[in-house]
This record gives sequence, C-alpha cells and structure tokens, in this order.
Amino acid sequence: MRLLITGATGLLGISLALEAMREHEVVGMDRGKLKSAPFQVIKADLLQPNTTDSVIDLIQPDWLVNCAALTKLELCEEQPDLSRILNTEIPEKLAQTCAKRDIRLVHISTDAVFDGTKTKIYTEEDQPNPHGVYAQTKFDGERAVQEVNPQAIIARVNFYGWSLSGKHSLGEFFFNNLSEGKSVSGFTDIIFCPILVQYTARLLLDMLEKDLCGLYHVVGAQPMSKYQFGVEVARKFGLRETLIEPKSVHSSDLTVRRSPNLWLSTHKLSTDLGCEIPEFSTGLDEFYTQYQQGYPQKIRSYQQ
Ligand SMILES: NC(=O)c1ccc[n+]([C@@H]2O[C@H](COP(=O)([O-])OP(=O)(O)OC[C@H]3O[C@@H](n4cnc5c(N)ncnc54)[C@H](OP(=O)(O)O)[C@@H]3O)[C@@H](O)[C@H]2O)c1
Repeated sequence: MRLLITGATGLLGISLALEAMREHEVVGMDRGKLKSAPFQVIKADLLQPNTTDSVIDLIQPDWLVNCAALTKLELCEEQPDLSRILNTEIPEKLAQTCAKRDIRLVHISTDAVFDGTKTKIYTEEDQPNPHGVYAQTKFDGERAVQEVNPQAIIARVNFYGWSLSGKHSLGEFFFNNLSEGKSVSGFTDIIFCPILVQYTARLLLDMLEKDLCGLYHVVGAQPMSKYQFGVEVARKFGLRETLIEPKSVHSSDLTVRRSPNLWLSTHKLSTDLGCEIPEFSTGLDEFYTQYQQGYPQKIRSYQQ
C-alpha cells in the first residue's frame, strides 16, 4: 500500500513512517525539517491553500494518516484560530478529499476530549466534554471527520517515545531531567494510559489492514498516574526515582486545565483486532532497548 503521513516530523508521524516502511511505500509530509529520512518526503505546509488536494493528487495514496496537529495546549490557548484550522478545519478537508478519492483515512485525535471527571473507565460510548482550546478543537475535528467521511478511523491516542527534538514526550521529560540529576514533579492525580509510540503505530497499521472504521481508543491497557509513570521510567533506566516529587496538579503552575482521569478502555480495539494490547512493561523494556541501541540519536540525525 502507498501510505501518506501528514505531520511526519511529529513523534507519532515519524514513528509510524519508520514502522510502516517495513511493509508499505511511505511518503511523509514535512514543512522542511527532514533531510535524510529513510522514507520519501514531500515538502508541504498544510496552511497553504489547496495543499491537501495537490499533495494527495500527486502522491495518490491508498491510505492517509493525519498526524499533523497543533498539540501544545498553551499554544492552542494563545492561538485559537490556528488551533481551529489545524485541529478541525484541515482534518475536515482531508477527510472530504479522501472520501471523494476512495482513500482510507486515519485521523488522530486525543484522550483529552474527556474532562476526566468520571471515576471509572471511559469507553467510546462516553460523551466527551472537552475543556480548553486544544481539546475542543480536537473534538470538533473528530466530529467534522466523522460527518464527511464515516468510513474514516478516528483514533484517540496517548503515547510516549523518542522524538526528533529529543524533548517532546513525557518519557523523554523524565529521562532527560533525571539523567541530569534534576528534580521534577510527578502528578499523582493525573491518570493516563501510556503506550510506546511504536506500538501505537503498529496498532494503527493493523486497523488499516483489518479495514476497521469508526472511533477507537488506541492507548495503553494499563492506567497509571504521571508520577507512577516517571517512577517506572526511573527504575528502568537506573535513575534516581527520589528526584521525582509526588505532587498534585493543583499545586502546579500549569495554566491550562488537565483532565484528571484519562483511563480509556481498549476493549473495542482489542476485540476488533483480535489481539491483546501490549503490556506497559513490554513497551518500557523496548523504550530502554531503543535507548541502548542509539535510536534517539539515529532519528535526530534525520533532521536538518
Ligand atoms: N503526544 C501524545 O501523547 C498525544 C496525546 C494525545 C493526542 N495526540 C495526538 O496525536 C497526534 C500526533 O501528536 P504528536 O505528539 O506526534 O505531535 P507533534 O510531535 O506535536 O507533531 C505535530 C506535527 O504536525 C505538523 N504540523 C503542524 N503544523 C503544520 C502545518 N501547518 N503544515 C504541516 N504540518 C504541520 C508538525 O510539523 P512541524 O514539525 O513542521 O511543526 C508535526 O509534524 C496529534 O493529532 C495529537 O493531537 C498526541
């Protein structure tokens, strides 16, 4: 299959491109950061008029995975118009074009569409209640994509891994700070379901190969607090877990509200794929192995 990936410099985009190129022809869309990626790159800015149509016409993909987004919560608050364009309007446009040309689309959304006030697990049946510009524009993006392209897969994700910048994911945040001997806060009252980004990528490809459609939670199967996650990273890498101070998010200086409980059910995903979601510890082992094998340096060498 020929797979077009938007946001190919992002943590998910590049990980997906590297995973998919083992079996498929991959083209990644990039605004100019990549110089020597081992997959084909097309330079394009989604904010330029008619980019989506012209790139899709040129590449003629069988599958398109939209990993491009404005992901920084604070930036979304500062630039709500840009957030709406990237997180809602461009996904809608991509979905329309894919529907017209019979291209299978995966649109990436977020666990943060939920306000996190439910004390139990969230399923795909639960009604989102987004707080803040990022969550709202992502949720609006989901609805816009569903409306114009009901065959699309909408994947609500959350993942960690080694990124191009070396400081994008929560795994990198704990690793970078603890390895420099710096103390950090770990929130005990924010629950999420972390999964190694290569496993997210593999699951997305499996979903395309199985021809699934509709809304799915594509996260790890084990919920944990951000503090617990930090401790697990510290233990795996032999770093000092006492440098992580357990704290409430309410005592932080974060300006954008975080949802306290993002424990999402993966039951629908594992049932429809007919497989178990990999254990958290398996992903963490792999994250550590990647580090030992120089993977962080390797992907960083792909950029200008
Ligand atoms: N990271 C997580 O744990 C997490 C959690 C929940 C949901 N998600 C969702 O997962 C998806 C991928 O997230 P990520 O963490 O991989 O994101 P990321 O690292 O922030 O990457 C965002 C990507 O979007 C691209 N982009 C932004 N503006 C663009 C434009 N005008 N034209 C073309 N490309 C543009 C960026 O390109 P540049 O490099 O050129 O800026 C980058 O490749 C997003 O939909 C996000 O909402 C992620």
